[in-house]
Amino acid sequence: MKFKLFTLTSLCISLLLNYTNIDAQTKHLTNSKYTIIPQPTTLKPAKGNFQLNKNTRIISSSVFNAAAAELKSITEKCSRTAKNAGTITLKTGDNTLPQGGYLLSVKDKSIVITANTAEGSFSAVSTIKQLIGAPLYANHSTAELQIPNVEITDAPRFEWRGMHLDVSRHFFDIAYLEKMIDRMALYKFNKFHLHLTDDQGWRIEIKKYPELTSKGAWRNLNKQDSTCLALAKDNPDYALPEKHFKTIDGIRKYGGFYTQEQMKGLIKYARARSIEIIPEIDMPGHMMAATTLMPWLASNGKGGQAKDFSEPLCPCKESTYEFAENVFTEIAALFPSKYIHLGADEVEKSSWKNVPECDSLMKKEGLKDINELQSYFVHRMEQFFNSKNKKMIGWDEILDGGVSKTATLMYWRTWIPDAPKHAAEKGNEIIMAPGEYCYFDAQQDVNSLQKVYTFNPLGFKLNTAEQKYVKGVQSCLWTETIPSEQRLEYMIFPRMMAMSEVAWNNSPSDWKGFESRVINQLPMLDAMGINYRFQDLKGFSPKSVFTDTASLQLINPVPAFKIHYTTDGSLPTISSSVFNKSIKVDRPVQFKLAAFNTSGKRGEVYTIDYIKQDYFESAKVENLQKGLDFSYYPHGYHVVKEIDEKDLDSRKVTAAIEIPIAKTADQFATKHKGYFYAEETGVYTFFLRSDDGSVLKMDSTTLVDNDGMHFAMEKSAQIALKKGYHPFELLFLEGGGGYTLKLEVQDPSGKRRDVNAKDFYR
Ligand code: ACM
Repeated sequence: MKFKLFTLTSLCISLLLNYTNIDAQTKHLTNSKYTIIPQPTTLKPAKGNFQLNKNTRIISSSVFNAAAAELKSITEKCSRTAKNAGTITLKTGDNTLPQGGYLLSVKDKSIVITANTAEGSFSAVSTIKQLIGAPLYANHSTAELQIPNVEITDAPRFEWRGMHLDVSRHFFDIAYLEKMIDRMALYKFNKFHLHLTDDQGWRIEIKKYPELTSKGAWRNLNKQDSTCLALAKDNPDYALPEKHFKTIDGIRKYGGFYTQEQMKGLIKYARARSIEIIPEIDMPGHMMAATTLMPWLASNGKGGQAKDFSEPLCPCKESTYEFAENVFTEIAALFPSKYIHLGADEVEKSSWKNVPECDSLMKKEGLKDINELQSYFVHRMEQFFNSKNKKMIGWDEILDGGVSKTATLMYWRTWIPDAPKHAAEKGNEIIMAPGEYCYFDAQQDVNSLQKVYTFNPLGFKLNTAEQKYVKGVQSCLWTETIPSEQRLEYMIFPRMMAMSEVAWNNSPSDWKGFESRVINQLPMLDAMGINYRFQDLKGFSPKSVFTDTASLQLINPVPAFKIHYTTDGSLPTISSSVFNKSIKVDRPVQFKLAAFNTSGKRGEVYTIDYIKQDYFESAKVENLQKGLDFSYYPHGYHVVKEIDEKDLDSRKVTAAIEIPIAKTADQFATKHKGYFYAEETGVYTFFLRSDDGSVLKMDSTTLVDNDGMHFAMEKSAQIALKKGYHPFELLFLEGGGGYTLKLEVQDPSGKRRDVNAKDFYR
């Protein structure tokens, strides 16, 4: 459920760093004893350990029951029943303890957790679990578990620390949702937003309309399923799980749903871990699962697909409100959360034009356009929610056509940067989930983890007063091409660890420290059986060149992982050659290499092509001036070769790679043309990062091809240049949704930097 088209290819993207930096890159990995994510507010290490075993006593009052039960289950994992096994005390603190915070004191024979809420105490238990680490999750019994002595004070930055999961596009069963809840609790998330309905399937039982799930939860395979099945040929994680198929009336269908009883169980399971489930029934758009069964709910009486999105519910018929209110009556009774999510995103409002019922409703209510018609629907639903003692959340489209003061906005459209400010000015609370940072269905590359980590939820031009309206942050996982639990884990780990620090910490600026915390926790993730994405190998370009000889070098961010490679085109396995330090290249060759973790699991496979190249001669040009010729085309294209001179709007001169247009069109393209000046003869590497597509041409070649519609993605290539001027052209297109365009160069000495004014001539 998103505007962007995502590329589905596995990325082989590189970041060239000097090999001599490798020690500096890895030496912070040493003290892993206190690796906690999110990092606590203060942590004072101390000598010694608390040895936890079966006889460890837990002293607690009823408010901390859930935390005490969790601690008890940890002691049950130990086989030793030693005497004098120490005591864990849970107690309430004074009113200086911030909301949701806790104190944790671990001394040889005593652990004291101080908290004022169940949530605070449970967070302390999550911290203890991470201090124990991998041994806690080992699948063999253990005599004792060690917790290093420490003094911790800790409290969350945001009250809303959410994760979202789309269970409509692909269904995930209750057992797996429980697993997700455990992992969310370990990383101190406290809201689980379930996107329960969409065009592709209705997942929650509604007793008044049993067909919604008896029929609406099951589908014949659709286009997205075919995409997954095609991808599954190379990657089994894209296969549709057999357990979600069922034969109904002799036809094999795919899907699933939750009964209300099952959902009650899940709510209870989550609550015991201090997590609240937030239900979303997305309307008036994204309703095809319902309109297929009840076509009268749509204005055209048929439902189906409309121009950009599916036919929405008709906001001009009372029968729509009867349906919506019946559904939400059951949702409000089932889910104890204060908030219910109405969705209200991506509505094909044009379907309401020229509909007699809508014309008369607009006249009667004084609504001047279809945006106000959507607002009318949203306001009416909000009033209904309020009558059930619930508050409404909607995606940021609820701003269009006027928003009520009491609605909470979930911000996702990064390309509308003013939306949070408009909401805060009106006094609406905001949950920050901007797609660029928070949509974990976006494919990953070498930059994606850092992108999440450096997300500033209080940005977006909010002043200090307006920042107070930010309730918190949330990651979102839309599952169009995420059919399996394995694939889901690959997409959220380790990004959810980065989001947990953004949500919890006051100072999410310690990227290097965070990176090492993630690496230190990999043994724990392995013990938990999580299919996380490995940290990228760095220090090479997939399109490499040599003129005489070259030396392939790599940076392996996880020293415990071994790198294996092949040169015969086959995928590397654990028995392929081991990469040690460097390989001399003196002939054209293709390397395929990958890291393998300590249990032999393979990470991303990287392909590096080395070709032999003569130095490109410099151009015979004279009297050049500084800068590049820049052209701007305010038109939508899919690939850069579609850029058409007849769409040219303006020309300018830029110093380097800039887009000097004060307010660009939503969709546009640009061209930068001139010469790159090579200061010395040698091999240069260019790194091109863009959202959406870009292509870099140099001399007579297409050097970097980063074309097409995608989130910010980096590609790189090498070229051998003689000292002097080299023809340069950079084409870029933006397909809507906010753009990124960045070019870096690594010169023959190995220094990587942004291109700048001294590189370009025209
Ligand atoms: C959304 O991604 N359409 C909220």
